[in-house]
Amino acid sequence: MSQPVGQEQIWERLRDVYDPELHRSIVDLGMVGEVTVDGDHVRVLIKLTVAGCPLKAEIQRRVSTALAELPGIESVMVSLDTMTDEERAAARETVSPGISKPSPFAEDGVGTTVVAVASGKGGVGKSSVTANLAVALAATGRTVGLLDADVYGYSIPRMMGVQRQAVMVDDLMLPVEAFGVRIMSIGFLTEEDSPVIWRGPMLHKALTSFVAETYWDDPDFLLVDLPPGTGDVSLSVAQLLPRAALLVVTTPQLAAQRVARRAAMMAHRVDLPVVGVLENMSGFVAPDTGHRYDVFGSGGGEQLASELGRPLIGQIPLEPSVAEAGDAGTPLVAAGNGSPAADALRGAADRLLDELAAMARANGASGSLEHTSADTS
Ligand SMILES: Nc1ncnc2c1ncn2[C@@H]1O[C@H](COP(=O)(O)OP(=O)(O)OP(=O)(O)O)[C@@H](O)[C@H]1O
Ligand SMILES: [Mg+2]
Repeated sequence: MSQPVGQEQIWERLRDVYDPELHRSIVDLGMVGEVTVDGDHVRVLIKLTVAGCPLKAEIQRRVSTALAELPGIESVMVSLDTMTDEERAAARETVSPGISKPSPFAEDGVGTTVVAVASGKGGVGKSSVTANLAVALAATGRTVGLLDADVYGYSIPRMMGVQRQAVMVDDLMLPVEAFGVRIMSIGFLTEEDSPVIWRGPMLHKALTSFVAETYWDDPDFLLVDLPPGTGDVSLSVAQLLPRAALLVVTTPQLAAQRVARRAAMMAHRVDLPVVGVLENMSGFVAPDTGHRYDVFGSGGGEQLASELGRPLIGQIPLEPSVAEAGDAGTPLVAAGNGSPAADALRGAADRLLDELAAMARANGASGSLEHTSADTS
């Protein structure tokens, strides 16, 4: 016979249960209500931050599993309730005391390395590359945020297979997590496929909320999927994320250089350094013959890289699986099928880490980019 389980043991156990979105103990967040122990049976009331929380089943599962492991517990019943406004405000204060800074990523000594993915023209694969790099970085054990700054043409929700709205806790937006990546997109706030018609100041306001009023929780990396070209959004992003480095995506087409160069000019104008160039859609290797076809020409990435005096951090082949994976909502590197494009994307993520670390060393940055070289695995 084991000892009867006491309240203290239960609470201690619950302290190790984390909210999946807030990444904090449910006890510290004030989510645990009444706990009743009746012999080997426990009943726990969990107060969700919002009614209809999309992760309530997961929270319930975490609580049940944690308590069921206690010796002397035979059954666990978890019932759900919703926090009052006061409780919610307190929880919000716990995770993020008074965010009122215009940008948490602009401060000195922030630990997040920000990389904005840019291109001179549309359709070169920025979003696909950004989604895959984010997933590849997260797979190395780093914490990664993905900000979809393509307000008009957002595609990240679909590519990352997210179909739900973002949850708000008080005035704080919670990123939606998929493949280990914390994602925020305008697509989580609007009805699907409804056109976004914000202009100028509204646009800046929306991006500011994405940066400052979103609970990013200090990720190691924040990747930003920019819209094509050098419009208002890019300028706003540069202003909100003044420590960002740009990763320029281009196709191998030499004629694309003029447009890609525009991205480089933007980098100059907004005073963001370029970390490197990534060539996408570099040749198609026929799976049956192994013959390589340079569908979009060749040499564009190399040429742009040398023009910018920055490294070519990768060449991602043109491969139908990249598009198929994106359409299916599972980025290719997460599908784990060992395709040449998936390998190239993982290689590019590694190279990106190296270049960011080198850049930080060259800048003599104390800490801010330095951790990128740390091996967390
Ligand atoms: N390496 C690749 N091989 C095959 N298809 C690809 C590859 N990279 C991207 N694609 C496909 O090309 C199309 C455009 O890609 P994506 O949407 O990522 O580009 P983008 O630069 O973000 O476009 P936009 O400028 O509209 O934001 C998508 O259908 C995508 O699936
Ligand atoms: Mg895009």
